[in-house]
Amino acid sequence: MLQRCLDLLAPALEEAGPRPPVVVDCTLGLGGHSEALLAAFPAARLVALDRDKEALRLSGERLAPYGDRATLVHAVYDELPEVLERLGIPKVQGVLFDLGVSSMQLDEADRGFAYAQDAPLDMRMDQTTGIGAAEVLNTYPPGELVRILRAYGEEKQAKRIVSAVVREREKEPFSNSARLVELIRDSLPQAAKRTGGNPAKRTFQALRIEVNGELTVLERAVPAAVASLDVGGRIAVLSYHSLEDRLVKQVFAAGAANTAPPGLPVVPERYQPRLKLLTRGAELPTEEEVAENRRAAPARLRGAERIRAEER
Ligand SMILES: C[S@@+](CC[C@H](N)C(=O)[O-])C[C@H]1O[C@@H](n2cnc3c(N)ncnc32)[C@H](O)[C@@H]1O
Repeated sequence: MLQRCLDLLAPALEEAGPRPPVVVDCTLGLGGHSEALLAAFPAARLVALDRDKEALRLSGERLAPYGDRATLVHAVYDELPEVLERLGIPKVQGVLFDLGVSSMQLDEADRGFAYAQDAPLDMRMDQTTGIGAAEVLNTYPPGELVRILRAYGEEKQAKRIVSAVVREREKEPFSNSARLVELIRDSLPQAAKRTGGNPAKRTFQALRIEVNGELTVLERAVPAAVASLDVGGRIAVLSYHSLEDRLVKQVFAAGAANTAPPGLPVVPERYQPRLKLLTRGAELPTEEEVAENRRAAPARLRGAERIRAEER
């Protein structure tokens, strides 16, 4: 869906005014999308964020040929306002989010994101701070673990899995993924194992979201990104599960709504929408895209344009 992201952002980035347009890639990863933005919009300057230092190192090499057109910053994306202030950029013309984990994070077994390989249960995107998945599993109260598995993994068997985890962690704390995967497989009824792929998938997603505070951060970051957009500036967000997509949808819908109390003969400026939606609902990947890259299957793309400067 990269080309569609570029098309959505293009009208805001093609025109070079007195200053170069600025586009922010909030999820730099391995720099594929950033590189495509730099190549597609030769007048634009790129600011790219990632909380993973390894991602910054690798994409720094990849984007080196673009010189000072690209500024890479180690930051969590809800820090965007502070990052822009430090760089002396009052408003930006484009923002892109490609949420979730990168293929590098999934493929590096020792990061502990993948349930298919035995590895330390870490899952921190920024390994310099915070607690890993093993600590969550070994120390959280059972009720909290059930809430996390239900809310972030949409796991119907959360209680059953957590009872088994609590029983096992009393014998010996969890440290590696294989033991957790096996425990989940053993604790689920046959019927639950027949649907939805690997039975550990939902628990791993839930732990990853909790470890990285993903939804809490996103909840702050999308409104902050909208607030940083110039009038005519555009934002595109690629989500990979329904919780992220719902959050993005809500922020965009609130921005696109007319909030005037009913019955006003003339709608004052402050009640008028400040966003125009650029996608009808969420756009999905094509069959060819999914055939080429099965990790793209759950992707949902939404875009919006800032049409009014005033904040409500
Ligand atoms: C799906 S990957 C992006 C891939 C990228 N578009 C590319 O072309 O390689 C998501 C990246 O966002 C980063 N990330 C996730 N949550 C973040 C956050 N809250 N703040 C900053 N970076 C974050 C991850 O570390 C990961 O590198």
